[in-house]
Amino acid sequence: MQRGTRTATYETSPNIALVKYWGVRDPARALPYNSSLSVTLERLRTRTRVEFVPGLDRDEFRLNGRPAAPAATAAVAGMLDRVRDAARVTDRARVVSRNNFQTASGLASSASGFAALAGAASAAAGLRLSPQRLSQLARFGSGSACRSIFGGFVEWRAGRRADGRDCYARPLYPPRHWPDLVDLVALVAAAPEKSVRSAVAMQASVETSPEYARRLAEVPGRLAGIHRAIARRDSAALFPLIMEECDSFRLVCETTRPSLDYLTATSREILTAVRDLNTDTGRPVAAYTHDAGAHVHVFTLGRHVRAVRARLRSIRGIERTLLLHAGTGGRRI
Ligand code: ADP
Ligand code: DP6
Repeated sequence: MQRGTRTATYETSPNIALVKYWGVRDPARALPYNSSLSVTLERLRTRTRVEFVPGLDRDEFRLNGRPAAPAATAAVAGMLDRVRDAARVTDRARVVSRNNFQTASGLASSASGFAALAGAASAAAGLRLSPQRLSQLARFGSGSACRSIFGGFVEWRAGRRADGRDCYARPLYPPRHWPDLVDLVALVAAAPEKSVRSAVAMQASVETSPEYARRLAEVPGRLAGIHRAIARRDSAALFPLIMEECDSFRLVCETTRPSLDYLTATSREILTAVRDLNTDTGRPVAAYTHDAGAHVHVFTLGRHVRAVRARLRSIRGIERTLLLHAGTGGRRI
């Protein structure tokens, strides 16, 4: 291996999808069927240090101060193998990572985790990848990780090419584009552990959900509408579209065989509370969305946070709420 930098540290944040990635057209190249769009979240951070060590006999991975589980270490080694191949490096690596928020609890630690790993490993191996190329690497760890390379509002373009060259994430607007927009994350108590990995679950949806094809046909129009509403900072246009997209994702999950149900009774009460708030106010002041998990993200504007909180207060089973703005993306430390 070449001399020079062998250690690098990179940090970034998880993201929440407003337009969901759900299903791949080419699993080997990790190419999705549809483009997706997300907001990178402030404050929640993953910091990862990678060091290639001559003589080490296998990759080591410590996560949050402890040796990681074998499956998590194997996933990290898979990403390191890609980097080693590209950089013609043979040394094994010591990887140390820390999430400053709960791991594997539905807050997308896998997205920030694999984005941070891609950033740190490629730099440590001496690869000088552009952010776009970095996003193309990160998606092999976890699809949504490609969006966590960038801050603010981010699009992952599905592309059309069979070789995947036109499939990458790109920043649409920086974090400060819309300071008034906030994500009130309702952390739901007793959120069940995911029984099926997203990669497996989404392919089951592709193969068995009678709603999948319709969703796929609708997504480009919805993505364009969401993009336009963000460009204009138009919450009255944006909020209904966010919920429509989330409902479409949930319908696909529910009609998958066997059915995928990520929500708890508490999550469902939150969705109802947001719908009721909008009805009672006579205009869309908030929007819910969720990923493949029970926590619910409620997007609203700063001036409506009190009203949203008041609606959520009576719901049992919300453990905690986090008030987050759009945040910065990946950076080398
Ligand atoms: P989440 O909602 O937090 O993404 P998942 O169960 O989908 O939950 O993914 C959690 C998995 O992601 C962990 O078990 C681990 O394999 C991986 N992961 C989490 N954090 C990191 C990290 N900082 N570095 C590398 N992998 C990570
Ligand atoms: C519902 O990116 O976690 O959160 O590629 O299998 O790691 P893998 O899947 P992952 O799936 C994300 C699904 C989603 C929607 C999204 O974030 O776009």
